[in-house]
Parts: sequence; structure tokens; C-alpha cells
Amino acid sequence: MPKLTVITREGQESTIEVGDGLTVMEAIRDNGFDELLALCGGCCSCATCHVHVDPAFRDKLPPLGEDEDDLLESSEHRNEDSRLSCQIPFEPELDGLKVTIAAED
Ligand code: FES
Repeated sequence: MPKLTVITREGQESTIEVGDGLTVMEAIRDNGFDELLALCGGCCSCATCHVHVDPAFRDKLPPLGEDEDDLLESSEHRNEDSRLSCQIPFEPELDGLKVTIAAED
């Protein structure tokens, strides 16, 4: 199975395997990283699934949606690698992706 590396806010790095059809948010949440709140359950309305994505994968990600962009704009911790993890289906070409859970707003 493709692998995803997750770095927590404290800098702890873990690699998890991701099953078919999950988003990055679901993969993180289902593996017990409870600091990723994902309060809206993935419907792009809360921004509590904010992550910073390894820039090496930037070109492989789906384009930033308008709603996603608006929500990220409300975060003080946004940078050029910010994405909402619920908006990233974990496709096989993302194998090896590394994401860091963004600081809490
Ligand atoms: S889980 Fe709410 S915006 Fe991603």
C-alpha cells in the first residue's frame, strides 16, 4: 500500500499505509492523530485539517479549490505549502508524500 509520512506539531514523524479511496485527512485521522481535528468531517467548511505539504509533491496535488483557498486564508499559519488535507484524495502517485500538521489557529 502507498505510504504517507505525517509529522506532528511536536515534530514527531510517523509513516502510515493508506488504503484505497481515502483522503489524506481520513488517513491521518484513522491512524489516531487526534491533533488533526477535521471537525467538519471533510466537507471543506472548517479548516481544522490544515497541513503543510512537502513541496516536492506540489505538482502532483489536485488544484486548490476556491472554498479551500478562502478557508486557508482565515488561518494565521498559512504558507505556500498549505492545503486542507480533506481535499487531497490519496492517489497512488502520492506514495511517499510527507505532510506536517499545521499549528492550531
Ligand atoms: S475537515 Fe473540515 S475542511 Fe477539511
